[in-house]
Amino acid sequence: MERRILVCVGSGGVGKTTTAAALALAAARRGKRTLVLTIDPARRLANSLGLESLGHQVQQVDPALIRPGAQSDRGELHAMMLDQKQAFDEVVSRHAKDPAAVQRILANPVYAQISGSLAGAQEYAAMAKLHDFDRSGQWDLIVVDTPPTAHALDFLDAPRKLSEAIDSPAIEWFRKLQGQGGSRWSLVGKTGAFVLKRLAKFVGSKFIEDLGVFFTEFNDILGGFRQRAEETFALLRQPRVGFVLVASPEPMAVHEAIAFHERLVTAGMPFVGFVVNKLIPSRPFAGGMPAIEQALAAHPGVVALGLSATTRTMAAQALVNAHLEIETLALADLTALSQLRAAGGASSLLVEVPLQRDDVHDVERLVGLEQFLLG
Ligand SMILES: Nc1ncnc2c1ncn2[C@@H]1O[C@H](COP(=O)(O)OP(=O)(O)OP(=O)(O)O)[C@@H](O)[C@H]1O
Ligand SMILES: [Mg+2]
Repeated sequence: MERRILVCVGSGGVGKTTTAAALALAAARRGKRTLVLTIDPARRLANSLGLESLGHQVQQVDPALIRPGAQSDRGELHAMMLDQKQAFDEVVSRHAKDPAAVQRILANPVYAQISGSLAGAQEYAAMAKLHDFDRSGQWDLIVVDTPPTAHALDFLDAPRKLSEAIDSPAIEWFRKLQGQGGSRWSLVGKTGAFVLKRLAKFVGSKFIEDLGVFFTEFNDILGGFRQRAEETFALLRQPRVGFVLVASPEPMAVHEAIAFHERLVTAGMPFVGFVVNKLIPSRPFAGGMPAIEQALAAHPGVVALGLSATTRTMAAQALVNAHLEIETLALADLTALSQLRAAGGASSLLVEVPLQRDDVHDVERLVGLEQFLLG
């Protein structure tokens, strides 16, 4: 609650979006003017926040939804679902040399095709947007959700990946081609000319031209991009920022979370703690078979069924087995917890969020996570 920016990171599907929403809601309920920058929330979650048309603009969640039982009624929750393409267009517009260049790039068919899938573009656009909101000084807290990358580390690599994608030798080749105007067929060398002609047969020479124009124009704005990326990474290292590493107890997710933690520490990013989500809590049951049999024999529902003693014993045995299986899972989760604790060190924060019966898709359930996240 002391930080100004919280970034929820972690592997795919562990609960980043849910945690980001729950943290933002908790802060708003404590009186803060909060913004959650979210990426692709489940439709049901967006709907339950009253954000049916959660588009590329900031929308306020109805105060009446978030205030029941809150510590303060001064807080506000605002949400924005990042439209990656639009955010990327904005970055391009800002760095292009003049309005005409903006038009040329945005109208370029190659740009339209690849701006959505360029490596790192989504992460980059999210960070650029965060930068803007932070500068505006309007928010007590900004909570940032991060995209569902296959690998948690992709997030930190985004600016480098983006530069690499744009600086690759193949693209350099196209760029040169464009710069050479009419005589380009001879200048790319015999093999190049041959490849180009063949390529043009398949994709059309217009397309190849578009590619060249795109990469030349794009090259002009790259300097601005890189500078922006560096500024953003400097921002992320400030002590008012906190990285919240969300993990689930599966071995793969734990492994990734530990690697990501190391990476954050090495990069000098301020780590605040682990959220271990979807844990199966251990509920030891000392009574064993006899206690279950007794309970079954006395249970009105079971009595009404008129089961024989043998059937009841079988049912009791099935329950004991099921409980044992769940305890085995809970034990595995305890191992995951101790691994994460060891990785984080004695001083690091680790909160446990149990697996809920249902998906966390409404305000009530989000509020329900507060006790685990901040308790
Ligand atoms: N503690 C929990 N108990 C039960 N279900 C949960 C819990 N936390 C999250 N979920 C559910 O798990 C699903 C995935 O959660 P969420 O979308 O937050 O993950 P994510 O890390 O953002 O995924 P992605 O990487 O795809 O963006 C959602 O349906 C969510 O409601
Ligand atoms: Mg998500």
